[in-house]
Amino acid sequence: MKYAIFGDIHANLEALTAVLSEAERLEVDKYICTGDIVGYNADPRECVKIIRDLQPEVIVRGNHDDYAGTDISLPGFNPQAANVVFWTRNQLSAEDRQWLRELPLNRTTGSSTTIVHATLDTPGRWGYVFDKFSATASFNYQFTPVCFFGHTHTPVVFDKFGSTKNGDFKEAIFEPGHKYMINAGSVGQPRDGDNRAAFVTYEPEKKKVSLHRVEYDIAIAQEKIRKSNLPERCAERLARGH
Ligand SMILES: [Fe+2]
Repeated sequence: MKYAIFGDIHANLEALTAVLSEAERLEVDKYICTGDIVGYNADPRECVKIIRDLQPEVIVRGNHDDYAGTDISLPGFNPQAANVVFWTRNQLSAEDRQWLRELPLNRTTGSSTTIVHATLDTPGRWGYVFDKFSATASFNYQFTPVCFFGHTHTPVVFDKFGSTKNGDFKEAIFEPGHKYMINAGSVGQPRDGDNRAAFVTYEPEKKKVSLHRVEYDIAIAQEKIRKSNLPERCAERLARGH
């Protein structure tokens, strides 16, 4: 069994299609999505449709799915960020927005894998797991050997009982008795200085996770952002990968 695990797509259609065709080339059997399908970029409707049609085994709700799927006010948002949320809400059908807001915050598949967007200790508060220290609180609520998460847009493997593998890891083999939190990186807005789309494959029988980076047409994604009058910063950062 081979899973493709990916998230933080953020309405980047070019990155999403590049990742899915690479996953197909790698002959994955199933998909898992760690959330944040929308936000920042210009194709929320198309990305929601692709993910819904793909029918991943698990999809969890990200904070941007929450902002776009609900009518919650956005305290603490700067005006530009709030405008992206309002724009995204307007692009989506009522039915897509309902689907987004009803996604679960976390899920366990079988007995070995948990999926969450942000953290397991307080998943709806959208805290960040940036380092081993901040992973500790989440580990306390992880009852499976492996957890996949998103939100930081930075690939990493935290091992509760071992060393951390940062974003340049190619693959990690799980050791018996250890506990892992793995960030698959971001499909549509990488923030680790590498502007290629990121995702991981996971082969439970081999206890192996592999990181993949995929080039995509950044210029087209940027052009769509500019044509939609979304913030220039959203376009610029795609090229920087940060
Ligand atoms: Fe995100």
